[in-house]
Amino acid sequence: MTDRYAVIGNPVEHSRSPQIHAAFAKQTGQDLTYERILAPLDRFAATVDAFRATGGKGVNITVPFKMDAWRYATRHTDRAGNCGAVNTMKWDGCEIEGDNTDGIGLVRDIERNLGVGIAGKRILIVGAGGAARGVAGDLLREEPALLAITNRTEARAIEVAQAVNALGTMQVISADSLPDHQFEIVINATSASLSGELPRVPAACFARGALAYEMMYGKGMTPFLTLAAGAGARTADGLGMLVEQAAEAFHFWRGVRPDTAPVIAMLR
Ligand code: ATR
Repeated sequence: MTDRYAVIGNPVEHSRSPQIHAAFAKQTGQDLTYERILAPLDRFAATVDAFRATGGKGVNITVPFKMDAWRYATRHTDRAGNCGAVNTMKWDGCEIEGDNTDGIGLVRDIERNLGVGIAGKRILIVGAGGAARGVAGDLLREEPALLAITNRTEARAIEVAQAVNALGTMQVISADSLPDHQFEIVINATSASLSGELPRVPAACFARGALAYEMMYGKGMTPFLTLAAGAGARTADGLGMLVEQAAEAFHFWRGVRPDTAPVIAMLR
């Protein structure tokens, strides 16, 4: 029987995950389908309950439900445990396992696809929502020289730093003092690009030859990437991360690791 998977979000119609997982299934000969499910904002748990009751095997979770998914899971993988956000779940009866593959997806895209090492680098995460939470721990595991976080609402940046402090130190930097610091990798984890806005990042904080990474994809040269390019930085969007996190989710569900390069090329 064909196994069913889905991505749950609101909105969800923009999601490219069905296309990615269909490509992975074809490539690896796995018999599965993957659909989009729009959950009402106050009905995340009921939506997953219904999918489980009708034979669904696992789900991905996208905005704005990653923190709800963390609460829904009855146990967490190590990498999802600290961060408070879950983007992938599978279950066995009432036992719901929550994982977060965003961080490893970002790390693989930066290191393997873009060829930029993280160890020993100075890294800045801009933003402190679910997206930032999901990647902070995995970045720390790669042992950068410094992992810093800045956010419009500084209290949320402090919360993220506290959530991962078992793994290492994350320095909180206020927007006012950012021009005093330089970074080799600057990651925009805010949702500002969705509305075409620029988070407070000064051009001065890009080190020579820095990588500017926009976690969103499909938005072209966002204000953040335009600023970075003007400051001489190399730019990347989050399409590679999207495919890499999907490959890790596919492995979590099926025990098979697809080849990501042809799928990234297809989507580009
Ligand atoms: P996600 O799950 O995508 O991370 P989120 O939890 O709503 O979504 O978090 C959005 C992040 O983008 C937050 O860090 C938010 O800043 P605040 O914590 O101050 O709200 C940030 N953000 C959104 N719009 C922004 C803007 N125009 N400028 C700067 N930061 C912005």
